[in-house]
Amino acid sequence: MPTEKMIMDQQIIRADFPILMKEIHDKPLVYLDNAATTLKPACVADRIAQHYLLEASNIHRGVHSLSEEATKDYEGAREKVRAFINAEETAEVIFTSGTTESINLVVNSYGQFFREGDEIIISEMEHHSNIVPWQMICEQTGAVLKVIPMNDQGELVYEEFEKLLTEKTKFFSIVYVSNALGTINPIKKMIDAAHQLDVPVLVDVAQAIAHTPIDVKDLDCEFMAFSGHKMFGPTGVGVLYGKKESLERLPPWKGGGDMILSVTFEKTIYNQLPARLEAGTPNIGGVIGLGEAIDYINKVGWQTIEKIEDELLVYGTEKLSAIDGLRIIGTAEKKAGVISFYMDDVHPHDIGTLVDQDGIAIRTGHHCAQPVMKYFSIPATARASFSIYNTKEDFDRLAETLNKIKEMFS
Ligand code: ALA
Repeated sequence: MPTEKMIMDQQIIRADFPILMKEIHDKPLVYLDNAATTLKPACVADRIAQHYLLEASNIHRGVHSLSEEATKDYEGAREKVRAFINAEETAEVIFTSGTTESINLVVNSYGQFFREGDEIIISEMEHHSNIVPWQMICEQTGAVLKVIPMNDQGELVYEEFEKLLTEKTKFFSIVYVSNALGTINPIKKMIDAAHQLDVPVLVDVAQAIAHTPIDVKDLDCEFMAFSGHKMFGPTGVGVLYGKKESLERLPPWKGGGDMILSVTFEKTIYNQLPARLEAGTPNIGGVIGLGEAIDYINKVGWQTIEKIEDELLVYGTEKLSAIDGLRIIGTAEKKAGVISFYMDDVHPHDIGTLVDQDGIAIRTGHHCAQPVMKYFSIPATARASFSIYNTKEDFDRLAETLNKIKEMFS
C-alpha cells in the first residue's frame, strides 16, 4: 500500500502546468480532453525551447560540439524510453512521428510477408489508425481482416477472439486501452494466446502509456506503439518498440539519410538498428522533449498517478451517472481515464459547445473509432478524459453544466 509520503500533493502537480491558470470565457479552465492530448508541464516546454534556442543542431553526422551534444541528448532520450518500458536494449526503440506512423511502419514492412488468404486479427474497438493501415495492406496482398467483436459493456468477447485465432492468422494487432470507451483489454492473456500459434502481436498503448506502467518484457509483445503527446510530451513524436529479432525481420519502410551504411548505384547497405528504421532527420527537439516528459512521469510516480486517476474514475462515473437521461458508453469492469457518454435529446456536439461556454474542454465526436459508434447505434459521444491534474471539482463543474444543458433541452 502506498504511504501518504509517496503520494505527491496535487497542487504541486497542477502548478507544473501553467495553462491551468488560464480562463476560458471568463471561467477557470477545466481540461477534460486528455485522451486527445495531455497538457504539457513547463519543464517539457522549457527543455524543447532550450534545445532550439541554445543547442539546435543536427544529430549523428556532425563532429562539431553542438552536433555531438544534440546526438547525446537524442540518444539519451532513447535510453530514457528504453528504461521506461523496460526494453532490453536501446536498439529496440525506434522514434517515429507518433502511434499512427509506428503502426504504419509495421504494417508496411511486415505486411510484405502477407499472402492471399492470410488473416490479420484486430478488434472492434480499435482507433482508425489500427484499422485503416491493415485494410490497405489487405487490399494490396489479398490478406483478410478479422475483427474481435465486443459486448454492450464495451469489452472484447474473449471466446470470439479464441475462435478467430487459427493456423491462417499471421498477425494480431490490439489496443491496450480504448480511447473511445476507456476499456482496458486483457492484452497479456491475448498475447500469450496468439503466441501459442506463433502469431506476432502489436499493441497500441497510446491511451495507456501515461496511465499505467508498461513492461514490454512482461507483456512479451513483438511490437508496441505510442505517442509523445498523450504522455505530457510534444506532438509529432512517438515510439515503435520492437523485440530486436522482430525489428530485424522488418524490411526498411522509408529510405534516406541515416538508415544506410553505404550507397552506390549498384548496391546500398542498410544501417544497424535503430538507425535502419529512422530515415532522414528526425524530430530531434521532440524526442528530447519526450525524454523530459518521461523524467516528469517518473518524478510524479505511478503510485500518485494511479491513486489520482482511480479515484477520479469512480467519482466522475458516479457524478455523471446520476444525471437523468445520461448514458455512459463503455462500462467495462476494467477502465482507465475515459468517461464517454450520450445524453438523450442533445447532440454531443451541442454538449461540447455548451460546456466550453463554462470553461470546460471535453471532446465530442467519433474519436477516430467509428465502428464503436456503430456498435452503440449513436453518431458520436461526448467524452471526458482525465489526467493527474484533474480534480473532483472538475467533475462537479462538468455535472453542474450538464444538468443546466439537460434543463435547457427538456
Ligand atoms: N486519438 C485522439 C482522441 O482520442 C485524437 O481524441
